[in-house]
Amino acid sequence: MSTAPRLVDLRSGDVNDLAGVVHIMNRAFDPRYGEAWSSAQCIGMLALQGVWLTLACEGNALVGFAMARVVAGDGELLLLAVEPERRGRGIGGTLLRSVIADACDKQAERLHLEMRAGNSALALYGAHGFTQVGQRRAYYRGLTGEAFDAHTYALTLG
Ligand SMILES: CC(C)(COP(=O)(O)OP(=O)(O)OC[C@H]1O[C@@H](n2cnc3c(N)ncnc32)[C@H](O)[C@@H]1OP(=O)(O)O)[C@@H](O)C(=O)NCCC(=O)NCCS
Repeated sequence: MSTAPRLVDLRSGDVNDLAGVVHIMNRAFDPRYGEAWSSAQCIGMLALQGVWLTLACEGNALVGFAMARVVAGDGELLLLAVEPERRGRGIGGTLLRSVIADACDKQAERLHLEMRAGNSALALYGAHGFTQVGQRRAYYRGLTGEAFDAHTYALTLG
């Protein structure tokens, strides 16, 4: 029997999908670091100009998502997360490539992202050509009040 992973379907999401998105986000991001967004933050962000949500689904099940924004030629990957049990099967990479392609279609010249220093997702971003461009000290505040730096990365498009 084949052990090949099932292909995920990508579709665009909207505010009606945010309950599932927040559910995955709360499971995907370790609460020690304070990286996950609240539902209110997601709703507010999705209402802003140039923001879109891409969902990764296996059948009817939401297994991952990406939220991104392009405004005036500048793109930002805002969030990317995959259900913990579904990781390591290419879903994150599929979502990231979709965001990169969409950002190109929307005429973005660069795609930025910001990530907690030490987040192992750097392996994924590095493999797609992102390089570090900056650092924000004590940007994240964890559960116990501990502060964590953020690093910013960028990918030149086109
Ligand atoms: C980052 C994340 C979305 C990756 O999802 P995924 O479905 O596991 O990614 P993929 O299976 O497509 O992996 C792509 C590559 O990156 C590597 N990789 C991805 N996440 C990794 C991690 N956490 N640690 C080490 N390597 C990782 C994989 O080994 C793979 O490399 P390969 O193709 O050479 O084998 C997922 O780990 C996640 O949801 N993390 C928590 C949320 C988060 O930190 N998001 C990023 C900041 S916004």
